[in-house]
Amino acid sequence: MTQSLTIARPDDWHLHLRDGAMLQAVLPETARHFGRAIIMPNLVPPVVTGAQATAYRERILSALPKGMQFDPLMVLYLTEQTDPDDVAAAHASGLVKAVKLYPAGATTNSASGVQDFDKVRPTLEKMAEIGLPLCVHGEVTDSDIDIFDREAVFIDRVLDPIRRTTPGLKVVMEHITTSNGVEYVKANAKDLGATITTHHLIINRNHILVGGIKPHYYCLPVAKRESHRLALRAAATSGDARFFLGTDSAPHTDPNKESGCGCAGCFTATNTMALLAHVFDEENALEKLEGFASQNGPAFYGLPVNSETLTLRKSETATVFPEKISSDDGPVTVFDPGFPVFWNVT
Ligand code: NCD
Ligand code: ZN
Repeated sequence: MTQSLTIARPDDWHLHLRDGAMLQAVLPETARHFGRAIIMPNLVPPVVTGAQATAYRERILSALPKGMQFDPLMVLYLTEQTDPDDVAAAHASGLVKAVKLYPAGATTNSASGVQDFDKVRPTLEKMAEIGLPLCVHGEVTDSDIDIFDREAVFIDRVLDPIRRTTPGLKVVMEHITTSNGVEYVKANAKDLGATITTHHLIINRNHILVGGIKPHYYCLPVAKRESHRLALRAAATSGDARFFLGTDSAPHTDPNKESGCGCAGCFTATNTMALLAHVFDEENALEKLEGFASQNGPAFYGLPVNSETLTLRKSETATVFPEKISSDDGPVTVFDPGFPVFWNVT
């Protein structure tokens, strides 16, 4: 039996497009299905100023294949040197839709992130005043904190204090991976949202480690135990508008993933929408997919829902996704859910 589902065109509220040859290769994978995306600023060097965001936006738009429509929503990378007035001007011009907080050393290209949170207080206060959201990579980096506990500890030690001392600051907890993250969002009605990735709805930590190490399942925050995956699934499919899609699709070339010190990141742009349809179908929640992928994010950011639509179809034969996409930097492996998927975008 063929089944189909039409939803407003989705957006991706957390995406890595990179630059140069990689940007060229991965941008069409997102633009094919998504109307807009929050573009992560962790380039080398990072996108810190309004001027850098303008230049990066232009590089993205010139890499967009003719005939494709896509609106990159730019984000500034918060550093201890960030100038609150530059941030406010970039927001006032409509260029910048969020500021990103990386604790220094938490993930790929986060060396310029924040160590001393008092140093960014003036910027956070300015953001609260002008209504500019803070996107947070929610992991502490202390070497004595176990990697599987870093999100829960971040909530207690960093996030909750920031929110208490900066009332009115809108915060997105990005790529939450734990029931602690889900519960924190649910307990805090105001000014708080969370993105959930496609892959964290599908894999737990066993997928990375059992039967041999699987570098293409390694990302940060690292997938946690099964009970956390189930909590994420329940949140994503609940219809609660505080949870929305941020794929965190993060391309790295195969040599950089399949290495003695492999990079963190799952590349899911190509098959995310089909995989989400599978997951929501499995949870008997197909009618909640549009909220999660197309409506809750714009509502949080105060933007209109896309007027175009996207249609997904379930067929009797399994969908064949490309195993890799090629770039002039090298091949990038597409996330493999490890089970047959019958949904696809038409
Ligand atoms: C991201 C990347 O590769 O830039 N990696 C990842 O595992 N998600 C960085 C990030 O969002 O943490
Ligand atoms: Zn990311």
